Amino acid sequence: MNKDRINSILKNMSLEDKARQLTQINADFVKSDVKADATGTSDDLKLTHGDIYGAGSVLNFGGADDALAVRQKYISQSQNKIPLVMMQDVIHGYRTIYPIPLAVGCSFDLQLAEDCAYIAAVEAKYNGVDVTFSPMVDLARDARWGRVMESTGEDHYLNGEFGKAFIRGYHRGGIGCCVKHFAGYGAAEAGRDYNTTDISERSLKEYYLYAYRECLKEQPELVMTSFNLLNGVPVNADSRLLLDILRGEMGFDGVVVSDYGAVNEMIMHGYAADKRECARTAANNEIDLEMMSSTYVHNLPGLVKSGEVSEEKINKMTERMLALKEKLGLFDNPLNATDEQKAAEADGCAAHRGVARRAAEKSCVLLKNNGVLPLNTSVNAAYIGPFAEEKSILGAWACAGRADEAVSIAEGVEKLLCRKPVVVKGCGRGLFDSDDSGFDGAVKAAAGADVIVACIGEYAHFSGESASRADIRVPGVQIKLLKRLKELNKPLVSVVFGGRPLVLTDVEKLSDAVLYVWQPGSEGGSAIANLIYGRANPSGKLVASFPRSVGQCPVYYNHFRTGRPKGQDTLEGTVYTSGYIDELNAPLYPFGYGLSYSRFEYSGFGLSSGVMRRGDKITARVTVENKSGTDGEEVVQLYICDKFASAVRPVKELKAFKKIYIPAGGKVLAEFEITEDTLAFYTANGSYEAESGDFDIMAGGDSVNVLTERLKLI
Ligand code: NOJ
Repeated sequence: MNKDRINSILKNMSLEDKARQLTQINADFVKSDVKADATGTSDDLKLTHGDIYGAGSVLNFGGADDALAVRQKYISQSQNKIPLVMMQDVIHGYRTIYPIPLAVGCSFDLQLAEDCAYIAAVEAKYNGVDVTFSPMVDLARDARWGRVMESTGEDHYLNGEFGKAFIRGYHRGGIGCCVKHFAGYGAAEAGRDYNTTDISERSLKEYYLYAYRECLKEQPELVMTSFNLLNGVPVNADSRLLLDILRGEMGFDGVVVSDYGAVNEMIMHGYAADKRECARTAANNEIDLEMMSSTYVHNLPGLVKSGEVSEEKINKMTERMLALKEKLGLFDNPLNATDEQKAAEADGCAAHRGVARRAAEKSCVLLKNNGVLPLNTSVNAAYIGPFAEEKSILGAWACAGRADEAVSIAEGVEKLLCRKPVVVKGCGRGLFDSDDSGFDGAVKAAAGADVIVACIGEYAHFSGESASRADIRVPGVQIKLLKRLKELNKPLVSVVFGGRPLVLTDVEKLSDAVLYVWQPGSEGGSAIANLIYGRANPSGKLVASFPRSVGQCPVYYNHFRTGRPKGQDTLEGTVYTSGYIDELNAPLYPFGYGLSYSRFEYSGFGLSSGVMRRGDKITARVTVENKSGTDGEEVVQLYICDKFASAVRPVKELKAFKKIYIPAGGKVLAEFEITEDTLAFYTANGSYEAESGDFDIMAGGDSVNVLTERLKLI
């Protein structure tokens, strides 16, 4: 780090320069020719020419040509010639799109996640991206929330592991990254995006902040704050969260960026009276970069002069911005890696498409199979439904991905079979579609087939930011179509797309097999064809519980017991127990669940000792046997439950996993190490430690079917 350079730049900056440096604007503002003294490109932001060509960072631009134009124009117009840092939402791929993060989580394959992030970074950097706004590590337990698709699910430990893997991939590919959204955003009440969150101190510390703490170990360049009100205070105003915890306890000294317009939103939250107060609050909380609002530009110099924000603080924040640019090499090369030629070579190259296909194969989850899958290539299968030929299967954050470059199911199957399959749409994919005029044609085509593959589910843009849903079933017209197909009494396979865990209760009943394919990305159709015809063996396991009905939301595996427990799988039971009178407690498909064409059997689970002294290491061992004639991969999962504790512990907590390849007929001994740390938690007095007593140690292929051993910590 060239500290001298940073100091000498800082010395020559006016307060106005610094306020601009702490502002991030849309790249369009730079592109549209803003004349000196104009009131800006956006009425809301009211930026002058000087503000725009002094802004520290831009977001949202096209490819390499666009990025070069922005950088060059900025530098030519800017007075102090401090290079721009250009940021973009590269969430699950740049041009080559791999499955949504929720799906990648289901691969339980950290190396694969890293490789996905790596290819995204390589494409992004040549296209001018210095920093991606990823990974998103919000704990997401409510399937109604549209942004569950961006997370890796309902388990904080997994979120941390995947977050770190994504960061490693971005760094390996040569771009910076930003962990988001700090903090608690995933707990939006009723799953409604941007809604209030209310999280206990314990839950925040143990579950919602966990993945951030982990991610910081990989040194991401930025952390983004969230939109939400957390326990009554907008996150951007929460000095305990931002200063005491993030800067203090977690020791983060990189750039903190607000989310889009969020500094301003303190007014709408009912916290700040005006923009000046927003700027004062955010700056005093060391939000170094204000994204897409202009309270800093208009108020920071005045706030410093009045003593409401110290100049020292502004210097520290500006220094962080400059240090980021220094770390990214922008002072030596303001164009960074932006290169049209290299971008053209990298975008969608065969190697990247290969990673995307592998990721899709490994993240689809086989939820049901009565033996109909895999299909023999000689079988006459009809592909029916709105997703059979759909190419918009990239997911809601597809960056520069192109639907026309995606492989649809029909295309993937055609390529594999070397013949065109029978394909009929049958109905639309809209949430409120009711037109069933295509049913007869679909049924007729299906009647001539041996097997029906229904391609149904949720369209890519019905999840993602601002796409929360109150009804998370497959749209009604598609279920009606499925019922008509079922009447043909032929084997019925449902291939279901979704950006969240959908309620599949009807689909499950009507289908002989259910393959959940999420939003699988550019190579979705090839991967799905490979899975359907057994060229690839499903190995994905759910990282989010699938509710039976939306009324169960939020439903997640690591819940607490109650004083009045009720069986998970029964409606019967004594009254005054914790349950519903019209629904089971158990989700339709539990966390960790997923089938394979192989059949794995667990046996011989044991601990190296049933008693653990402090400082000891215990080994848990389980044998997993592939009892089938098909090679496969199994995700062996280790859970614990602290039976009694000073603060009650969840029924189960995932502590480790191993994805293991086991050849047909083969056997593998999976081993896990258990230390005091494995058993530790935030005790009633706030300390992080393991309490003496009994623990259940569990191993299995999902969170329900486990073998259990007792361990005593003394
Ligand atoms: C708003 C989203 O919440 C955030 O995740 C994203 O990075 C920014 N917009 C920038 O596009």
